[in-house]
Amino acid sequence: MRRLPGTDLDLSTVGFGCWAIGGQYWGDDVDDQRSVDAIHAALDHGINWFDTAPLYGYGHADEVLAGALRGRKAIIATKVGVRWDGPDAHAESHLSAARVVADVEASLVRLRRETIDLLQVHWPCQRHTPLEETLTALQGLKRAGKVRWIGLCNYNAAGLRAASDIEEIHCLQTPYNLLRREFEGDLRAATEVAGPAGGSLGVLAYEPLCRGLLTGKFRATSRFPASDLRARDDRFQGPRYLRALTIVSRMALVARRLNVPVSALAIAWLLRQPAVTAAIAGAKSPAQVQENAQAMALAQRDDVPWVDIDRIVSAYRG
Ligand SMILES: NC(=O)c1ccc[n+]([C@@H]2O[C@H](COP(=O)([O-])OP(=O)(O)OC[C@H]3O[C@@H](n4cnc5c(N)ncnc54)[C@H](OP(=O)(O)O)[C@@H]3O)[C@@H](O)[C@H]2O)c1
Repeated sequence: MRRLPGTDLDLSTVGFGCWAIGGQYWGDDVDDQRSVDAIHAALDHGINWFDTAPLYGYGHADEVLAGALRGRKAIIATKVGVRWDGPDAHAESHLSAARVVADVEASLVRLRRETIDLLQVHWPCQRHTPLEETLTALQGLKRAGKVRWIGLCNYNAAGLRAASDIEEIHCLQTPYNLLRREFEGDLRAATEVAGPAGGSLGVLAYEPLCRGLLTGKFRATSRFPASDLRARDDRFQGPRYLRALTIVSRMALVARRLNVPVSALAIAWLLRQPAVTAAIAGAKSPAQVQENAQAMALAQRDDVPWVDIDRIVSAYRG
């Protein structure tokens, strides 16, 4: 567990990401009952928080999560500010006060909660809404007891600083894994942005498995159906994909020697990076959760050759 700085939220260092269980963009094998079983497995393995968003399955992920959690205690982090016009339509950020309030009200209904533990702005504004308008609306929701703590996703260091000058921001959610390190500079800067409690902001790392690539299950010949966003992700194509697979195979050798899943080793590496508070790992099944949850203990082990792993990671050129 790590405390999200400046809040009373003690988060397991691995959280459960709900994007895939929304059932859109992640292929044809998402099954609601298996998703419910995965959520129960997460709780059983000590994962105590779930990251969702209205966009994930256009509300379906929230409904599956709320149904699975019935009567079980868990922290829910969700998001606001992305709109879309009908399924499969282009989604864009929309951060007017009215939109933010409407998103929260709808989320509370779907999640069957009276308050949201952590509310995050999903993307920086693409519609010229002044930052003050969005953040003032969020603080109003906090004062009304509908939201407990506030964070931002996908903001760079400058955006984060600007937001923190206006209102209390507690964390940044950003993509980060051993094959995707381009935001490390922003992360370092984020940790220098003073949080409301005088300490630094928390960092929640998403996509810790590089969309499954860091599990070791893919081969050079692996293909994805059109319904899977990885069919259009250039990290899964051409020479870049082959370079990534080389790094993964080196990680797999280390994981085999330690008798741990590659996915757990990849997430554990992330948990040891200085800025990171916790990682959000997506999963579709109890077996995937069981593997990923092992990262929490693994990150604390001294018998793991962390220096060798750093060398493997540094060899990747993107
Ligand atoms: N704020 C934002 O803008 C933003 C953006 C992206 C994600 N997120 C959050 O971060 C979470 C995690 O990111 P992500 O889901 O994109 O990527 P990820 O966690 O890197 O990858 C998740 C996917 O990898 C596969 N997988 C996971 N564990 C596995 C295991 N042990 N063995 C084999 N395969 C495994 C599963 O897909 P398959 O079985 O199909 O391979 C799973 O859906 C999301 O769910 C969401 O909550 C936030």
